[in-house]
Amino acid sequence: MLPSSVKIVEVGPRDGLQNEQQVLPLAAKLQLIDELANAGLKYIEAGSFVSPKWVPQMANSHELFQQLNKQSGVIYSALTPNMHGLQSALTAKVDEVAIFGAASESFSMRNINCSIAESLLRFEPVIEYAIANGLKVRGYVSCVLGCPYEGEISPQKVLQVTQQMLAMGCYEISLGDTVGVGTPLKTAKLLDTLLQHIAVDKLAAHFHDTYGQALANILIALQHGIGVIDSSVAGLGGCPYAKGAAGNVATEDVVYMLNGMDIVTGIDLPALVSAGQNIMLRLGRTSQSKVAQAMSVVKQ
Ligand code: HMG
Ligand code: MG
Repeated sequence: MLPSSVKIVEVGPRDGLQNEQQVLPLAAKLQLIDELANAGLKYIEAGSFVSPKWVPQMANSHELFQQLNKQSGVIYSALTPNMHGLQSALTAKVDEVAIFGAASESFSMRNINCSIAESLLRFEPVIEYAIANGLKVRGYVSCVLGCPYEGEISPQKVLQVTQQMLAMGCYEISLGDTVGVGTPLKTAKLLDTLLQHIAVDKLAAHFHDTYGQALANILIALQHGIGVIDSSVAGLGGCPYAKGAAGNVATEDVVYMLNGMDIVTGIDLPALVSAGQNIMLRLGRTSQSKVAQAMSVVKQ
């Protein structure tokens, strides 16, 4: 059964901008986030508290959170891989945090410099301390449909890590097709396995669009009842530790599809397209969103 409404988690300012060559000045990031909130996005992943040596693009996350024009009803979240990150996030007064693990050992090593087992040990106090300080914790599992280093990843491995992160206190796990290699059949097989053990409202879909499969995979996720979708305005982004990975599915494309399916998102599509055009103009790049491209042609 399809959900009647969908929550979009906008990850452009984090997942998108972390993979841009240029480090955007604070004012440009703030403007993007404000325009996304004006377009009706209620959940915006605005930055991450990671090592600036690993991801220099996110180094100004502290200042960013301090200067955010927080709109009421909008959750502004950030990634926190360890206690160091969580402490900074608390000082910066984030609304919510997210930890990020993987279903692939080699991706875990490259992304956060530890094994999956070590990462779970590291997350435990982060989750506990965040919750004790009134913050909800979202979890990511990367490489759920394949890994750039290991290739195939079994649904059983994804199930195991997802269940562990939920048991540790994450309220939701976002399933990351980090390199965008998944297909609808693979997505269906993964979800069929997970949903035998996990309630559907505990899962979100996070698809990158490297092979152009993201919307098709999202349709499968919707048909399995998933009601939370991560996406990135203008299709910004990728992953610095997954070479060749393209950006997330474009938020504009997801919203257009959901509008056409009578699934409510609360998002103003023209305002979203305009936010995407502004940031791409700033970056000197073309929008990766087909819908944004089509709508700007129609306007001219
Ligand atoms: P490490 O080198 O093992 O950490 O990195 P460490 O604890 O040994 O510390 C080394 C140095 O980093 C020290 O500084 C620490 O202070 C500093 P030094 O003494 O050398 O000057 N440090 C920090 N600085 C700021 N904030 C922190 C922090 N922690 C340590 N939180 C670490 C381990 C996790 C820190 C590192 O590997 C890292 O930052 N990784 C982040 C990688 C990343 O951000 N990747 C992209 C996000 S994940 C993603 O995009 C996937 C997702 O979208 C889902 C999907 O698509 O699948 C979520
Ligand atoms: Mg991602």
